[in-house]
Parts: sequence; structure tokens; C-alpha cells
Amino acid sequence: MAFPKENLKTLIKAQYPIIYLVSWEEDRVEKSLNTLKDEIYGEDGNFYSWSTTKGLVNSGSKVDGSDDIMKAFDFAIDSSENTMFLIKDFHYIISEPKVIRKLKDTYAAFRNLNKTLFIISPTLKLPYELEKEVNVVDIDLPDAEETRDIFEDTLRTIVNESLVYSFTPELKDDCVNALLGLAAIEIELAVKRVLVNKNTVDNSIIEELLEEKVQIIRKSGTLEFIRTDVQLDGIGGLGNIKDWLNTRHLAFSNEAKEFGLDFPKGILIMGISGCGKSLCSKAVSTAWNLPLIRLELNQVYGGVYGTPEEVFRRSIKTVEASAPCVLWIDEIEAGITRAGEKTSDSPASRIFGYFLTWMQEKQQPVFITATANQIDLLPPELLRKGRFDEIFFVTLPSREERKEIFRIHLLSRGKDPDVFDLDSLAKNTEGLSGSEIEQAVIGGLFESFSNNKELDDRELIIAASSIVPLSITMREEISSLERWAADRAQKASR
Ligand SMILES: Nc1ncnc2c1ncn2[C@@H]1O[C@H](COP(=O)(O)OP(=O)(O)OP(=O)(O)O)[C@@H](O)[C@H]1O
Ligand SMILES: [Mg+2]
Repeated sequence: MAFPKENLKTLIKAQYPIIYLVSWEEDRVEKSLNTLKDEIYGEDGNFYSWSTTKGLVNSGSKVDGSDDIMKAFDFAIDSSENTMFLIKDFHYIISEPKVIRKLKDTYAAFRNLNKTLFIISPTLKLPYELEKEVNVVDIDLPDAEETRDIFEDTLRTIVNESLVYSFTPELKDDCVNALLGLAAIEIELAVKRVLVNKNTVDNSIIEELLEEKVQIIRKSGTLEFIRTDVQLDGIGGLGNIKDWLNTRHLAFSNEAKEFGLDFPKGILIMGISGCGKSLCSKAVSTAWNLPLIRLELNQVYGGVYGTPEEVFRRSIKTVEASAPCVLWIDEIEAGITRAGEKTSDSPASRIFGYFLTWMQEKQQPVFITATANQIDLLPPELLRKGRFDEIFFVTLPSREERKEIFRIHLLSRGKDPDVFDLDSLAKNTEGLSGSEIEQAVIGGLFESFSNNKELDDRELIIAASSIVPLSITMREEISSLERWAADRAQKASR
């Protein structure tokens, strides 16, 4: 993770002529390369960067005629040793035959010399003719340590001293945590933005930073950073999932790691609509006090934000940089099985393959909660033992669970549950899902409000009986789901 400083240092010292850096953080990379140049060559080092608008520039002064990339290459080939070149915007021109040839010439000219040509591009676009000459290095988003450095550097640019001194060490730690998953420039801007017009800071700044992060991550198009207050005890029933989550909670501590416990990988929650699958996914994050990021697999294929592979890889990088965190993939079947794409070489199947490998090999503490309704669309590889820690099956709530669900939804709307005959309500609502029980409570409230009286059992029963439950309209689907799950999944309820 983080900026691969040591790796690059080794490549530079080993005189690798051309290094392709995959990153969309030009400023951060340029700064870091400059630092590397100083560390490796000291006073004797030179650094040039090239872009389509500025040409080849060294500390602000431009090389004559270097707007033309061919001239820029000629200059690089003739230049003295201990020099690094950083070429931006290259993915636009890299497939031109003349450019490919020139790169090969540069490669030959730089060999066995202390000269390095870096290419930076947000996407890896390398003609196969150059595969032998070019070394590719992926630049990850800043890790915690680098995020801290960027945060501190940004604070140093703030002139208001009383503001800077009002940061306690604990508050700084929390800020750094809140900023994980962002690019360097995003960190800097977010910090500056929340400090505008302030004279001192307190804990509320964390909220503001997280709000900034929600907006920034949304721009990715595929990820959503979700703020939620759903608690485990806001879920009626599903005792087995709750127990499981409570036992695993402790696995995040350093003590657990020393004890030899693995970080939990994730759970798949499948089952009937409206019974609390999405609710559980959100509650994991509050119960474990980890940030929640939702991945919209469907958006990955949209093509708006790049090719599906690029978009997916980029999303995963953001998720990893935000670790420890919960990654929520809702209705995973919709994202990995695409109508009309059955071949093994479709983007969907490639991404699915990449996803499985990532799940298996990921080093960062990212806990996945995936939900699914249509299990017949799920490929068997996903369900194989060892992918998820557990597969849970959520079915219609039992009588006892319906009681709890009534209690939760009455309470959340300011009604005292003990005023109601919850036993009889639960008894009379067999076949209703959690979401249908919620609808009954809402319906009953409307009714009593329009009749200008307090809500009572009768209105609740009437509202409930006017619902045509899914368990009737989808009877067959539900029983086939239950048969499927019987020996393949854990019951979510006790
Ligand atoms: N077990 C439950 N306890 C409390 N409320 C519930 C429960 N199940 C469902 N609800 C209510 O119904 C709403 C919808 O539930 P949720 O979104 O979790 O269903 P889901 O299983 O994800 O359904 P879908 O498959 O349609 O996405 C919740 O926001 C909540 O208000
Ligand atoms: Mg859902």
C-alpha cells in the first residue's frame, strides 16, 4: 500500500529505463518522484515533466520546442545522467507508431545510465510492442501513514495558529481515520474546506470531514460512503446473525490478531425480500464501528467512468485504502450475472473472476456483506466454502420475531409498544415480512390520524390484513428458496 517508494528506488538504481505508473494522482506522484530524485542523486539530480499543454519543464523553465513530444524525447536522449523525466497525458499518444519507435529509442539510449523515463496515466494502456521495455507499477492511494503526512502538511499551510493548536492528538487521529480512502489532493482540499472560517476545532470537524468524504466518494460513480444509524437491536429477530456478529466483533482488536484470529472475510445474506437483509448489512458497520461503503456493481459496467475492469480495480483500491471497513454489495447476483452475457470472456465474468481472487487474497481488513435474493443466479464458485465465512438464509419472521418487529416500529414512531397486545398482533400476521409489518404500522398510523384518535390494536390488524403479502404472491419462489437453503446455508434466525 501507499506510495511504493522503496520499490521505485530499487528500479531506478537498477537503471530500468522506462517505468509506467498507473495513477490519477499526478501532483502526488510528481512530488514523490522529486523527493526520490533528491534522495538518490542529491544536488546532481534533475527532474523534468512533460504535458501536452506545457511541454518539457524543469523547475518552471521550459525546454524550447518541447511541446512536440518528439523534440522532448530528443532532449531526453541527449540529456546528462542523474535525470528523471515524468511524461503526462501519454495514454492519448502512446499508440502512435512514431511514438512507439521513439520510446524504443529512448529505452536503448537510457540503458545502463542513471536516467529514468516515467509515464503516468490513470489507466494502463500499453501497446504490446512495448511490453518488454516498460515496467508497470501501480500506485495505491495514500495509506494511513501517508494520509497523516498529507494532513499535517496541510495544517502547516494554515496561518491561523490558534486554529492549528486547537487540534488535540486524539482529534488528529480521528481526522486521519476519517480521511482514509481519499487521494492526496482530495485530503488536502477536504481539510482546507472544513477549516475555512474556523478559529478553533472540536469533534464536530470529524462529522464535517465524513460529509466531505461522502461527496468525494460519490463522484466515483460506483461507490457510496454510507452514514447509517441502524443498530443491531433495531432489527427484530435474526438472532443467529446477531450472535455471529457479536462474537466476531472482537476479532478487530490487536489482541485478537496476536491471539492468532483471522480477520473475518465476510458474510452472504440471502433470502426473502423485505426481511432485513439490507438492514443487517448496515448494522454490521454500526455494531463494529467501521465505515460502510456500498459498491454498485451495476455501475461498474455502465461505461461512463471507464472500462469495467478499470472502474472495478479503482473502486477496490478506494475500498482497500479505507480499511478497516465494511464493503456492502447489495443484490450481488444482479452485478455478476448479466443478461445475454454467457461467454466466459465477458466483462462480467472477468470482473467476477477478479473479485473472487481479490476476496481470497485481500490483505486489508475489509469485511464484505453481500446480499442476494435470487440464489439460482449465483455462480457456485461464490458459494464455495472459504469464500464467505458464513452464508445466512433469511426467511419470513416467526411469531416471536414478528412481535419484536412490531415493537421496534411502534417505538421508532414514538408509540409505547406495551400499550398494544403484541402477542395477538404477531399471531394474526403470519406470513408478513418485516417490511410488511412496518407498512402495517404506517398504515394504522395514517388511519388513526385521519380519524383523529390514538393508534390501537384494531387499526393495526385492519392495516395488516389489507396487505397482500409476498408470501402469498410468491409462494412457490419462497418454498423453492427454502428448500435450496435448507442444507446450504445457516438460518439467520435462532
Ligand atoms: N427483521 C426486521 N426488523 C425490523 N425491521 C425490519 C426487519 N425486516 C425488515 N424490516 C423493515 O423493512 C425494511 C426493508 O427491509 P430490508 O431493506 O432490510 O429488506 P431486504 O431483505 O433487504 O429486502 P430486499 O430483498 O427487497 O432488498 C427495513 O428498512 C425495515 O424498516
Ligand atoms: Mg435489500
